[in-house]
Amino acid sequence: GRCVVAVDGPSGSGKSTVSRRLASGIDARYLDTGAMYRAITWAVLRSGVDPADVESVAKVAGEVELRIGTDPQGYGVTVDGTTVDKDIRGPEVVAAVSAVAAVPAVRALLVQRQREMIANAGRIVVEGRDIGSVVAPDADLKVYLTASESARAKRRSTEDAADVAATAADLARRDRLDSTRKADPLRQADDAVVLDTTELGIDEVVARLRELLTE
Ligand code: CDP
Repeated sequence: GRCVVAVDGPSGSGKSTVSRRLASGIDARYLDTGAMYRAITWAVLRSGVDPADVESVAKVAGEVELRIGTDPQGYGVTVDGTTVDKDIRGPEVVAAVSAVAAVPAVRALLVQRQREMIANAGRIVVEGRDIGSVVAPDADLKVYLTASESARAKRRSTEDAADVAATAADLARRDRLDSTRKADPLRQADDAVVLDTTELGIDEVVARLRELLTE
């Protein structure tokens, strides 16, 4: 039957790995909303528009054709037919994504797309920053994953094969931008289950979520 799981939290909290594994385990689709904000950011940079130019950013977002799959084992992201899966993880996109994601018109557009995809899927795990609070306030389960700043920086720098200090600085910068912006800031939904993953392995987190779903 229908089942929507909302997974929110900051970078490096384990959202993506946990969400994918949970989706595979419960035979659900998976939507990475961060990849959608990253893809729009990629389009903004490609068009030469300044990410701080709100009106031009909104215009690009309204014109591009963004496609994203929902297979938890591997989804593709395309912008006007170009596969951008790798490029949206690069430093240029990382540096600009929080500015683009703060533009209200961009959020309105993507939130609407996300709601359509959720309605079509029926059974889906959706990860992001505002899923439990804005995109799917009626989700069957809302989870907010956290972890200490140092644990998050360590995980993310291992994934990216990057320097821990530089990664920590980037995470702190994005956390600050994402939680202080006016449009749909990163926040815990009041009815979200909060899990601190600093000392928890992926399998433990996924098992806990499966328990919560059957309760
Ligand atoms: O993977 P990581 O947690 O580092 O980031 P992400 O989930 O790929 O999201 C990248 C950026 O997109 C975030 O830093 C936010 O600025 C933005 N985002 C958002 O505003 N709302 C969402 N639902 C998802 C991502």
